[in-house]
Amino acid sequence: MAPEPPLEGEAERLDQLTTTHGLAAADPAGMAGLITALPDQLRAVPAEVGAQIAQSGARPGLVIAAGMGGSAIAADCAAAISAEAGAAAVIPWRNYGLPTWAGDDAMFVAISYSGNTEETLSGYAAARERQLRRFAITSGGELAAMCAEDNVPVYSIPEGQPPRTALGWLLMPLLEGLSAAGVLQPALPQSIDETAEALHRLADELAPYRPSRSNPAKLLALRFWQALPVVYGVEPLCHVAAYRWKCQLNENAKMLAISGGLPEQNHNEVLAWGRIAEQAPNSFPVWLRTTGPFGDSRMTQRVEATRRVLGSDVDSVEVRACSGSSLTQLLWLCLYGDFVSLYCALLGGVDPTAIGAIDALKLAMSKA
Ligand code: PA5
Repeated sequence: MAPEPPLEGEAERLDQLTTTHGLAAADPAGMAGLITALPDQLRAVPAEVGAQIAQSGARPGLVIAAGMGGSAIAADCAAAISAEAGAAAVIPWRNYGLPTWAGDDAMFVAISYSGNTEETLSGYAAARERQLRRFAITSGGELAAMCAEDNVPVYSIPEGQPPRTALGWLLMPLLEGLSAAGVLQPALPQSIDETAEALHRLADELAPYRPSRSNPAKLLALRFWQALPVVYGVEPLCHVAAYRWKCQLNENAKMLAISGGLPEQNHNEVLAWGRIAEQAPNSFPVWLRTTGPFGDSRMTQRVEATRRVLGSDVDSVEVRACSGSSLTQLLWLCLYGDFVSLYCALLGGVDPTAIGAIDALKLAMSKA
């Protein structure tokens, strides 16, 4: 279902904010450009690092992919892609140390854009202590130094950007590293080209210069920015995308947002919609969906049944990925949400790049 037409004045205001001149003032650090550049990050990664990983041991029983925030989402994406491919378990880990159940056949991957995130460094130190097979993805920092000391393979990625704008740089080496370790089939170059092309097309469709009347991300932001956004993933790949939407709304637009997924929503959260008019009057659910082989007719029936239960007072919007591989569809949905969060930030008058509270917490913890 298409979003309802927004207020004319707000749409015009958003279009003013997204001219070149408007963006220079409202988006001084250039988040719009960084979001648009995601497809350029999907290039092949250095083969030498993969060769080092391949030589470092036999196929692991499972993979613990550790990271936080904007780095951890790459672990979620790899876990979903790996599950879709029926490969060994990839388990995202957002905490200190290692999970207690990590056995000696586990492989540890440290993912930290800055290389200085204390939870991820603590996981690396625990994996080092246990002599687990491991590799890292980082732009530098202490993580790169520890890996150099241990002669552990590292995918070095470009520095100087907010981690959440480096999803391609973080995810592609992770997928490559998992292939090198024998966990996943290697991605074929033509399938990576397909993904990049699909993302370029989407980035153009949702670009700032496209006016609100023909830009679905702007239309959605115009409805979202004063509401409590609720994003549900239908198929498992979409659960990750829904969580990425939530995090991008948190970090870029500085908004609370809820993410969840079917079928679990039907067993708890569905009840809350009965009181939504009291709690969050402008809210409506956005359903993220895949196209083609990742869906299942039972889930389509479930979406329809859920919409009926929510009732005609609760409007809902569906965002369906273009066809393509699991990588294409997942990144397509993520990029869509990135643009929605950007436009919510601009409408709310906040700098999409600034993350003052996260920086303050990291500083406080480093002194504690
Ligand atoms: O978006 C952000 O800046 C954060 O969510 C960071 O990604 C998070 O704090 C972890 O830092 P890093 O990605 O450098 O390990």
